[in-house]
Amino acid sequence: MALDKKLTVRHFAAKKKKGEKICSVSLYDAPTAKFAEECGVELLLVGDSLGMTVLGYANTIPITMEDMLHHCAAVARGAKFAFLVGDMPFMSYHPSSELALLNAARFLQSGGMDAVKIEGGRTVAGIVERLVKAGVPVMGHIGLLPQNILTEGAYRVAGRSREEAKGLIEDAMALQDAGAFAVVLECIPAELAGEISGKLSIPSIGIGSGPLCDGQIQVINDMLGLFTDHLPRHAKRYANLGHEIKGALKSYAEEVKSSRFPGKEHSV
Ligand code: KIV
Repeated sequence: MALDKKLTVRHFAAKKKKGEKICSVSLYDAPTAKFAEECGVELLLVGDSLGMTVLGYANTIPITMEDMLHHCAAVARGAKFAFLVGDMPFMSYHPSSELALLNAARFLQSGGMDAVKIEGGRTVAGIVERLVKAGVPVMGHIGLLPQNILTEGAYRVAGRSREEAKGLIEDAMALQDAGAFAVVLECIPAELAGEISGKLSIPSIGIGSGPLCDGQIQVINDMLGLFTDHLPRHAKRYANLGHEIKGALKSYAEEVKSSRFPGKEHSV
């Protein structure tokens, strides 16, 4: 059902209480933001996955504040009612709480976002607390942390060992205690994600973390078949727009080269 009133953090707290699932998509432009809220997607994340899906980078590391703000502002122009979250890029919050505060303010003021997301658990809980105390809603993100790709060397499931699982539970609780309004659980074994979700009083938003999370998030390019490389295991393809786009461009190229386009009806 289309959204018809502006959502705030209260919407997500209420859904957690009622046990209702939250639907969220990571996307990057005005038209898809409008489509998404017309289809009832409640939380739109302008993810730094932008780096791979749209800007052609190998990972999220090269993404800058300027890249993010440019796309956040586009999404904010397209969406009227959905709750908008901007992903703080690599090194925009780690150096100091002061830098995190200033950059978060840019997401809210120039980017038109309602909240920011930052990666990490206990290590960033202090920063989350400063942001929330300053009036910035924060969504946490634990499990697989794409911004750690250079130190990890690969993307891998998080929380398989007992020790890692215990650490993830502590991370989730630290983010909640710091005032986060929700937390993304990325690529955490389903049973552990369910355990974390059960312990939290704020919603968990899962990606590759099974059905027991309070909500789900998918990357729009994965869902729509708009990618050139591989489809991650956790992604479900709901359409194959890549195929459609190539078909349309092929027809156009053939028609132009054979002088079948433009016809009379396309000429003034
Ligand atoms: O960047 C992104 O799109 C994300 C989601 C996958 C959670 O962080």
